[in-house]
Parts: sequence; structure tokens; C-alpha cells
Amino acid sequence: MHASRFVRGLADVLGAEHVLTDPDLVASYTRDWTGRYLGTTAAVLRPADTAEVAAVLSLCADEGQPVTPQGGNTGLVGGSVPLRGELVLSLRRLRALGEIDAAAGQVTAGAGVTVGDLQASARAAGWAYGVDLASRDSATVGGTVATNAGGLRVLRYGDTRAQLRGIEAVLGTGSVISHLGGLVKDNTGYDLAGLLCGSEGTLGVVTAARLALVAPAAERVVALLAFATTPAAVSAGQLLRREVASLSAAELFFDAGLALVCRATGSAPPFAAAHRAYLLVEASGAEDPSAGLAAGIAALDGVADVAVAVEPRAMAGLWHYRDAHTEAIQTLGQPHKLDVTLPASLLAAFCEEAPAVVAGVAPHAATWLFGHVADGNVHVNVTGIGPDDPAVDEAVLTRVAELGGSISAEHGIGAQKRSWLALNRSPAELEAFRALKRALDPAGICNPGVLLPAP
Ligand code: FAD
Ligand code: MLT
Ligand code: ZN
Repeated sequence: MHASRFVRGLADVLGAEHVLTDPDLVASYTRDWTGRYLGTTAAVLRPADTAEVAAVLSLCADEGQPVTPQGGNTGLVGGSVPLRGELVLSLRRLRALGEIDAAAGQVTAGAGVTVGDLQASARAAGWAYGVDLASRDSATVGGTVATNAGGLRVLRYGDTRAQLRGIEAVLGTGSVISHLGGLVKDNTGYDLAGLLCGSEGTLGVVTAARLALVAPAAERVVALLAFATTPAAVSAGQLLRREVASLSAAELFFDAGLALVCRATGSAPPFAAAHRAYLLVEASGAEDPSAGLAAGIAALDGVADVAVAVEPRAMAGLWHYRDAHTEAIQTLGQPHKLDVTLPASLLAAFCEEAPAVVAGVAPHAATWLFGHVADGNVHVNVTGIGPDDPAVDEAVLTRVAELGGSISAEHGIGAQKRSWLALNRSPAELEAFRALKRALDPAGICNPGVLLPAP
């Protein structure tokens, strides 16, 4: 069928006002957050509920029409934009947020609910949601499930998959699977929620998720520690995990990144002198965690300076030095963002080696490092190279795999890293991935340019 006739047919299902074709309205859906990935599309489809998503996918499967599911479009690996002219299926209108189930400590949230709204709703009911990330006000439940987002509190609460107690989704065939009962113990066969989590829209579309909530942290304390060397900062983060039971975040960044954040956001530096490496730590719980954190810090070697905050504004001020890295790097142009995990014992050495690995293939590029130290997860951001230049990605990802690390810690594979997936996954694993794709999306319409390498 001619594409424009097919799109007009979809308007019969969704209502014409929810099929966007005006280039001005479509533009923000075809460009990713970094600006590195720019796609094109004949239309953005905005279904209102699961039944409309099912109707759309069913028609697309019959027609062999590929779609790119999209939530908040904050993904950082080019997976959320239509790089091969797919139709964009925006899930932002699926904003139903159920009552908090106080007995179970759970809630069912529509795919389009933002993480920020979910957190606020949990807070109002005396609970908290364990996943937090700087994109909270745009990133959606559907997007964070589809990418298995990590974020700032994985060391305490785990990643998104760890919160998932059930899922509702429309598979590539158009059929709806719904398992939202939220039973904690439920060994009734394959874990479809776990499978769809992290599948990046390649098997189907998440329409709702049943999510576990956690006890709110009534008391919090935040400290910024400065170190003269990278190994001292990394081992401090690893030690605090053992010594401070209430530790809820341990984030690493470096002198160049901090100076850039201060320049880009007009903030004053935290200390009178600059230091090589910084560790931002947070402890939280029902009881005041300050004494426990102070004792843990006192036992560390190599701490050159410390700033501690307990007031909300002061805590936010210290967090800002870490949270603003993404935005500050963005002011330098479109970065290559390589989100990797290293074995814990090799993390410090990798952080020291990474700029040389980059310089080996791109002498004029700049390397920026920051990340979630307790998870072994460092974000290698590189500026000053063209958006399509693969040399840096190749060099960094190959080195990470040689060291036994993962080429994607928390952002996913997307379009960016699919050609390198074989660095981490065996031919047998990739064949199992393809078999799952054939089973759940036989027409191959769900995000076909994402995750799986070209055959
Ligand atoms: P999108 O960007 O719209 O989509 C991401 C992927 O999921 C795409 O492949 C898309 O096709 C698929 N998808 C989206 N919705 C659905 C759905 N309903 N069903 C099926 N597939 C779907 N990530 C982290 O893990 N940790 C961080 O700390 C973190 N911090 C960030 C900070 C900033 C400032 C920014 C801009 C991004 C950050 N991210 C982080 C990345 C991003 O926010 C996450 O990947 C997030 O999970 C994406 O959610 P989204 O709703 O924006 O999804
Ligand atoms: C972060 O940890 O800040 C995010 O993953 C975003 C990024 O990598 O830029
Ligand atoms: Zn991160």
C-alpha cells in the first residue's frame, strides 16, 4: 500500500490529530537528545491506550511497516529516533498512573508516565521509587523499562529490571500480553517482563509496568570528597560500599569535567584548589546517617578535601557538580557517549588509560569521564570528532571488551553500538537473540535498526 494511504488509515484508528505529519511538529521526534542522531519519518503516531497500540502494531505487521517506539526521547544510543525512516510510535499519552498499593508497596504505571511523576506520586503516598536519573522529568516508565535504565542509586536499589514486578506489552504481532498482578513469587514459566526489559523496543512495545516501591529515605547526607589520584578515589568508593551500610550513591568525576561544569553553568568550584578526582557520596535512611558516613570517610586514605551537606539546598548544590556533566559536555557539540562497565579491579586503570586510547585514534579529541563508581560504570564521552566517525567507538569498546568489561552498562546498544555487540556476545547468544526476535516480532517491524547486528 502507498505510504501516505497507509498513514491515512492509521488516522482512522488514532484520530487525525494524533497522527503528526507537519514537519514542524515532527522535528523534535526525529532528533535525539544529543543531536548526534537525526532521522526522518512519514508520521508520528500518538496512541492513547494499549488497544490503540495493538491496533497500530497489528496494521504495521500486516503491511511490514517498521516502527520506532519512543518515550521521552532522552535515550543516548540513537535507539529512539527513526534512522531508517520508520514511523515513530510515541507512547507519551499512556499516562495512567494507578493507586499506590500500600500493602504490596507497588504501583502500575503507564508507559508514558515520567520517572519524575512516578517519584512524586510515590512520595505523596509515603513511598519512594528506587530508580533515579538526571533525565527524570522527561524519561518515561516505558523508556526506562525498554533500556533497563540504571542511574544514580543502583548500588542501593538495583536497576530498572530489579524494580519490575510485571509488564503489559504489545508484541510485534499486535498481540497483547498482560501480567500485572505483582506477585513477588511467581514461578510460572518464562520471565517475559525481564526479557522485554532492556529489549530496546525490538520485541514489542511496553504499555504499562508493575513496579516495586521502596521505603523513603527520611534522612540524607551528601559529601563531596577530593583525591590526588584516580586509584585513591575509586578504591574509596569501593571501600565505602562495605563500610557505610546506608550508602545510597557513589559517583566519580574528574578535574577537567568539574571545571567544564563550573564554566558551563556559572557555578563556583567546591574547593579552593583543584584536585585530580572527586567522589560524590550520599548516605540515607530512616535514622540520621551522618555519623556512619563521617566514620567511613575518616577511615579512608588519600582524602585531600571534603565538603558535607545536610540541608536540601546544599545537598542539591553538591549533586549539581555531578548531575550537570551531561549538559556541560553537550555545550561542546555532539559527543560520542560510550557507557561502559569494567571489572571493579580494573576500573581505576581504565580511567587512567582511556584518554590515551582515544588520543591514539583521534589526537585532537577531548575525553571526559564520569560515572557510577560502585557499579564499575564509567561514561567515556568524547568531543571534537564527527558524528559518524567510528574510530573512537571502535578503539574504546574493543579495549573495554579485552579487559572483560561490558560495552553497554545502562544506556543500551541502540543504533550506536550494534556493530560491536559481538565483542560481548557469542555467536550462539546472538542466534538466541535472533530466534527471540523472530518469535515475538516475526514481521521484523519493531525497531529493526537497533540492538541486533546486521546479519
Ligand atoms: P526513549 O529515549 O524515548 O527510548 C529509549 C529506547 O527505548 C529506544 O530504543 C526506544 O525505542 C525504546 N522505547 C521507549 N519507550 C518504549 C516503550 N514504551 N516500549 C518499547 N520500547 C520503548 N540513563 C541511565 O540508565 N542512567 C542515567 O543516569 C541516565 N542519565 C541521563 C541523564 C540525561 C541528562 C539524559 C539526557 C539521559 C540520561 N540517561 C540515563 C539516558 C535515558 O534517560 C535513559 O536511557 C531512559 O531510560 C530513556 O527513557 P525515555 O523514555 O527517554 O526513552
Ligand atoms: C549519567 O550518568 O549522568 C547519565 O548516564 C548520562 C550520561 O551518560 O551522560
Ligand atoms: Zn549514567
